[in-house]
Amino acid sequence: MKIATVVGARPQFIKAGILSKTLRKHIKEVLIHTGQHYDSNMSEVFFQQLSMAEPDYSLKIGSGSHGKQTGQMLAEIEDILLREKPNYVLVYGDTNSTLAGSLAAAKLHIPIIHVEAGLRSYNRQMPEEINRVLTDHLSTLLFCPTETAVNNLANEGIQAGVHQVGDIMYDSILHYHRLALQRSTIHKQLDIASKPYILATIHRAENTDHPFRLQAILEALHQLEQTVVLPMHPRTRKCIQEASLVHLLKHKHLIITEPLSYLDMLALLAKSRFVMTDSGGIQREAYMLRIPCITLRDETEWPETVQAGWNQIAGAHRERILHCAHNLQLPEAYPALFGDGQTAAKISNIILAN
Ligand code: UD1
Repeated sequence: MKIATVVGARPQFIKAGILSKTLRKHIKEVLIHTGQHYDSNMSEVFFQQLSMAEPDYSLKIGSGSHGKQTGQMLAEIEDILLREKPNYVLVYGDTNSTLAGSLAAAKLHIPIIHVEAGLRSYNRQMPEEINRVLTDHLSTLLFCPTETAVNNLANEGIQAGVHQVGDIMYDSILHYHRLALQRSTIHKQLDIASKPYILATIHRAENTDHPFRLQAILEALHQLEQTVVLPMHPRTRKCIQEASLVHLLKHKHLIITEPLSYLDMLALLAKSRFVMTDSGGIQREAYMLRIPCITLRDETEWPETVQAGWNQIAGAHRERILHCAHNLQLPEAYPALFGDGQTAAKISNIILAN
């Protein structure tokens, strides 16, 4: 059996880092990197740290408008699929690379495997929501991390080929968490080894592309008057400059870094007081490491973390963010929301049985 896997953005490298190793024990995998993320600290460093095989195809598509970026990927992936003739195309999550991979496969009648299927924000303004809905409706095997995701698919009439397997990111955390704490020197580098701090990340278009939302979040970080570590996504840096909000970054409590490697990020997260983020991945990673989370969005694809009391939805409202931060509590209950850390093995077994 031959599978062509399409990756392109940071979180996809992390997921492929775990699943590819399991899959490659049994099948031939052709790895296609679209180049959606191309800076070495957004791409290469993940391949190195996760000891991943080099991509068989590096498309180097880079940035662009959604249509242009997705269209260029589609054309190039189609050529590769025609040449490689895989039995399946495997895609992760909800990025433009995911949609390009699944569209290219669907048009060539190649069955699609979607890892992280069934997630919904029910907000069609998000490019990710469009990407995930379309990918789910084109897929043959749909691997859901949670029961909510299975139910979301059922509500859209998708039941065949759906499997609840847990979250592949949990496998990854179990594998790399201790290593991160041993190897990472990020606390020393940032001079926070003995300081309590908050970890913050902002990169979603719904925040970065709306100056008033970006401003409200940055003002809240300002007013917290606690050490905040903010690894800066290139999109966010650009948008802050364009919106003339750079003055909000000049604050003695704010430590801004370049985008961080996986191990540095895990180490920082694991020792933080709490995290403030608009990332889907970090909301779950926080839960997996028992770190409370404040989500800087108006909704989440991970409602079970909110129901469990570990995640608060604050949107991009300054007062609400501050209220959440000041009223943070550590819940006692910690239900196993994301499976048992054996997601890669489950996915691999199901693929082999099909
Ligand atoms: C993408 C995904 C998002 C995911 C995120 C993970 C889509 C629609 N969005 O968002 O779902 O959560 O990846 O990080 O697919 N840039 C660089 N260097 C890079 C990559 C990007 O400078 O290596 C800058 C460029 O200015 C680019 C901007 O960041 O225009 C946005 O990059 P893009 O890949 O379009 O989306 P992300 O915001 O990273």
